[in-house]
Amino acid sequence: MSNQIRKIAVLTSGGDAPGMNACARAVARTALARGLEVIGFLGGYSGLLEDKMVKLGHNDVSNIVNRGGTFLYSDRCLDFKTPEGMAKAVACCKKYEIDGIVCIGGDGTLRGATDLSNHGIPTIGLTGSIDNDITASDYTIGFDTAMNTVCEMIDRLRDTCESHARCNVVEVMGRDCGEIALRTGIACGAVAVAIPEVPFDEAAAIAKIKALKAEGKRNFIVTVSEGLGKYGEDLAKKIQAETEVETKFARLAHVVRGGNPTLRDRLTASEMGAKAVELMLEGKTNLVVVERNSELVACDINYSHIVDRMYKGKLKDGDLDPYSAEEIASMKELCAYRKAEIERLYALVDDLA
Ligand code: F6P
Repeated sequence: MSNQIRKIAVLTSGGDAPGMNACARAVARTALARGLEVIGFLGGYSGLLEDKMVKLGHNDVSNIVNRGGTFLYSDRCLDFKTPEGMAKAVACCKKYEIDGIVCIGGDGTLRGATDLSNHGIPTIGLTGSIDNDITASDYTIGFDTAMNTVCEMIDRLRDTCESHARCNVVEVMGRDCGEIALRTGIACGAVAVAIPEVPFDEAAAIAKIKALKAEGKRNFIVTVSEGLGKYGEDLAKKIQAETEVETKFARLAHVVRGGNPTLRDRLTASEMGAKAVELMLEGKTNLVVVERNSELVACDINYSHIVDRMYKGKLKDGDLDPYSAEEIASMKELCAYRKAEIERLYALVDDLA
């Protein structure tokens, strides 16, 4: 494929993330600069099933590098997971004679991209999700912006907590991943952080609030990841009942997914988008561009998918069969590293509170 490549497609899928626009723009602009034709599919994988395509020229991606959301729109497409849906998607790629497709999104999107690549469509996945929950990558586009938004919201809550001598339990997005709650908890001086990855010592958190209150502290922030279900609401009630500190509950929800991307997200998104096209031009596909130790590197898309399942405890029978003992060991090492990083950060919370 390397020298034959003429036309590529780009789509954004799953939960939108600030920086997706910058990323799609970088894919389009890099490809156009190399003389390729570029099309976008609208609404994620639904665009492939429903044949919703737009041609992308230079000006079609103007004025979006700084904007949140995704101008290509997004969707969580259940039909795409069915054999009929996949057949339609493959037929659509063939109809437009694309030589490759760049899929920007989170774990569901990358799973879809893996399926597409296994059905013969040359694919590059780019990690776009506020959650930072792609095991193969240190970073996902949108994470920094989402954390900055959470920080801004919590700083505001802290102001009013201080005035009224209150506690605020703040639930933040992150599906099954506590990264946003953990890092913003540290950055916003939370007295406690509850995330799915580490057991939460509720009694210790309550005791700490009581002790600090006795010393005259007036404001208390607790961050909770949405991955713990309704726990945040229950915790707020318990804190109030046991500490006699009036406690409010706030669910930030989708507000955290919007907004203009930070410099970090614009830059990473732009670099990832450009790298995807360069890889395609080198004839390298069926990859995910991931960040490791501040560098962007290409990772096999199936490997990335399986190591993600391993980390999330979702491995199915036979998933590891195609891999050598050495590859499995490297997957386990990566999972252990991710876990250790979360535990390392979590250990800071108590001392800093
Ligand atoms: O994956 C990104 C994310 O925002 C998660 O943090 C959250 O659990 C989920 O998407 C919400 O999805 P939806 O926008 O479909 O409600």
